[in-house]
Amino acid sequence: MNVLVLGSGGREHAIAWKVKQSEKCTNLFCLPGNPGTAQIATNVSGGVKDFETIKKCVIENSIDIVIVGPEDPLVFGLRDMFAADEQLKDVLFVGPSKKGAQLEGSKDFAKEFMTRHNIPTAAYRSFTKETLAEADSFLEQLEAPYVLKADGLAAGKGVLIIENLEEAKAELRNMMGGKFGAAGNTVVIEQFLKGIEVSVFVLTSGRDYLILPEAKDYKRIGEGDKGLNTGGMGAVSPVVFADAEFMAKVEERIIKPTVEGFKKDNIDYKGFVFIGLMNCGGDPYVIEYNVRMGDPETEAVMTRIDSDLLSHLVAAAKGDLSGEKMEISKDGALTVVCVSGGYPEEYKKGIEMGGSRYLYENTPDSKIKVFHSGTAIKDGKLVTAGGRVLAVTVNGNGIEAQRKAIYAEIGNISYEGKYCRRDVGLDLLNYKG
Ligand code: AMP
Ligand code: GLY
Repeated sequence: MNVLVLGSGGREHAIAWKVKQSEKCTNLFCLPGNPGTAQIATNVSGGVKDFETIKKCVIENSIDIVIVGPEDPLVFGLRDMFAADEQLKDVLFVGPSKKGAQLEGSKDFAKEFMTRHNIPTAAYRSFTKETLAEADSFLEQLEAPYVLKADGLAAGKGVLIIENLEEAKAELRNMMGGKFGAAGNTVVIEQFLKGIEVSVFVLTSGRDYLILPEAKDYKRIGEGDKGLNTGGMGAVSPVVFADAEFMAKVEERIIKPTVEGFKKDNIDYKGFVFIGLMNCGGDPYVIEYNVRMGDPETEAVMTRIDSDLLSHLVAAAKGDLSGEKMEISKDGALTVVCVSGGYPEEYKKGIEMGGSRYLYENTPDSKIKVFHSGTAIKDGKLVTAGGRVLAVTVNGNGIEAQRKAIYAEIGNISYEGKYCRRDVGLDLLNYKG
């Protein structure tokens, strides 16, 4: 099969790396890809929201299956464009329709979906400028901290958790006043859930599903989860507190009703569902849905799948996963993201990199993989090109050994301003429940 992966981050490098190992994969393309994907695939220039370029690439390269990495093209209707186009309608496609992508594109839509299908989530109400007075009295009924969410896509920044009631009321007004643009025209206010978070990943055909390895994400820039929120600084899989008993609850209470919900609501959904969950005293509650895989969770999760991912993706896109079985390695994976000094605020780009041979090659069986997130080739040299530069993954048994190996390898990687969190996995190593 000729395969096209859309996107340019570490997530897409990891997906491409896994797909490449399939016997079914003849030619692999990434649009736009990055210097990491260029090691294993043909990069095609263009943007993920540039639908005409994508169409041209699919036709010119006789692409059989498209795998969408980020949410944006899905929220903007790429799947629907394929379905409506004579030349593209038979191309297999991994990613939901525009309506399905609303699970991530609109928090209000996601909340209504969960309420309709009895899926456990925090109690909530949605408000607009017209209902501001009601929003204030709803906030007064809740206990601190207060959770305010811009309804629309806000580049991962649209959630505010605020201790003080008056400050919450002021922020509510800022959000409705355009702090996150039109994304804040509607604001979801919800109950604060106390617990520990885990990311669960599902591949669905809209009819049935496979569960991928779960992972824990480390979101903030600083150690001990302090400081500014980022796109994710590390990941660990498996997650000790997501044991068989907890995952059975997740499957019964959340995954099954979610897939049933797609059927009942007539939502065309063939693709990944990323369920952000809170484990509240052993019971799972949905914090959010995403219609894609997580980053950097994917860079850990992909390395733990022993079965043929491309075969699963083809089956999902064809609408029937009944013949597929997800095989998961007992070995764990730990991922640490190396960023540019200053991220998630101002940082420099174009800094020359070197040191580790894994920057240039990742063999399927090596214990260490370096996935590229924000790199570029300049004058024949590998340079930094983003805030999130690399996702380094190590596989093996036991978090302690994994941590030792990963930080040793990161020590070999050199570029000016390199920063990573040193505490990835530490909380799970010492986890007591
Ligand atoms: P989201 O953008 O929906 O992923 O939210 C960002 C982060 O805010 C989540 O990963 C959680 O850590 C936190 N969060 C969101 N909703 C809640 C909630 N209801 N209770 C506690 N924490 C939350
Ligand atoms: N790591 C969280 C996300 O991808 O949204």
